[in-house]
Amino acid sequence: MSFSPFAKVYLAGHRGLVGSALLRKLQEAGYSNLLVRTSRELDLRRQADVEAFFHQEKPEYVLLAAAKVGGIMANMETPAAFFYDNILIQSNVMHAAYKFRVNKLLYVSSSCAYPRQCIQPMKEEYLLDGKPEPTNEAYALAKICGMKMAEAYHQQHGCAFFSLIFPNIYGAGDNFDLSSSHVISALIKKMYEAKTNGLPAVEIWGTGNARREFIYVDDVADACLYFMNRLNGGEALNVGTGIDISIKGLAELIKTVVGYDGNLFYNTDKPDGMPQKLLEVSKMRESGWSPRVSLEDGLQKTFHWFINNCAKAVKGR
Ligand SMILES: NC(=O)c1ccc[n+]([C@@H]2O[C@H](COP(=O)([O-])OP(=O)(O)OC[C@H]3O[C@@H](n4cnc5c(N)ncnc54)[C@H](OP(=O)(O)O)[C@@H]3O)[C@@H](O)[C@H]2O)c1
Repeated sequence: MSFSPFAKVYLAGHRGLVGSALLRKLQEAGYSNLLVRTSRELDLRRQADVEAFFHQEKPEYVLLAAAKVGGIMANMETPAAFFYDNILIQSNVMHAAYKFRVNKLLYVSSSCAYPRQCIQPMKEEYLLDGKPEPTNEAYALAKICGMKMAEAYHQQHGCAFFSLIFPNIYGAGDNFDLSSSHVISALIKKMYEAKTNGLPAVEIWGTGNARREFIYVDDVADACLYFMNRLNGGEALNVGTGIDISIKGLAELIKTVVGYDGNLFYNTDKPDGMPQKLLEVSKMRESGWSPRVSLEDGLQKTFHWFINNCAKAVKGR
């Protein structure tokens, strides 16, 4: 059976940023035979439990969006967890998908897997050309292993496992917990808190000169469905906007969206991470897909979602 609305699809990580957008997208597209489990119901680090689940449920397609994910602080403080969780989750799910003859599996990967000194923009073939960025080395190595594992299962067993490599993802459903959040959600929350409490300045980690590429989460979900119907295994394809912006430029945009009129203080004692991360997306464009949401529109949507879902948790003085 093809990847149609009648197929039995296991969406791993359905409560996360990417997974929740995928769930909305699949439901809108009429997919009604969806399998989902929270990490409490099924801990994907437990191989026996994962295999029992696949044996019982026999999914036909797998979207693997479950992972341990976090910003620069979480990556630096808990590298062992980034290794252990990600290696086990992806190994257990891919091996079970092979064992129980899943038709196709999508592994959601990240531009963090590219080398720190990578030539920009980053082409798919540069993946193993150098050492990863030290602040997220464990995560980067795990993501490389996930993509290489998908390729190896395709090569040895003919499995239709493939990877999509996304830049920084943001949007509705994002994590606004400052201990583990990424740059956009962190800046929205910090600036909103500062505005609510009349604080004169907001601290931003690093020099502000690092350049990053951002993709809105609904575009990510759209790309996942599009490529599930087009890629057949072994590939690792960049999927991005092809546009980057400095952290300073981003912070100014967020200031406007949030309506904060204080100062931005760049703490240069904190790391920048990779100097630049921009995906080269000509293969993606040739295959007929492009993102639709601009950074300005995406930031507005994300701020609205934050106001409706998280702003109540922000304490005023
Ligand atoms: N966020 C980004 O900027 C970004 C950029 C590029 C690529 N990616 C990739 O996109 C994928 C999803 O990331 P995300 O940002 O959506 O992450 P997220 O919001 O943190 O969500 C992660 C999901 O993984 C599930 N999970 C974590 N540990 C698990 C375990 N042991 N067993 C079962 N489920 C577990 C969680 O389930 P529960 O909620 O049930 O606990 C959660 O739903 C990852 O592969 C990541 O590498 C993310």
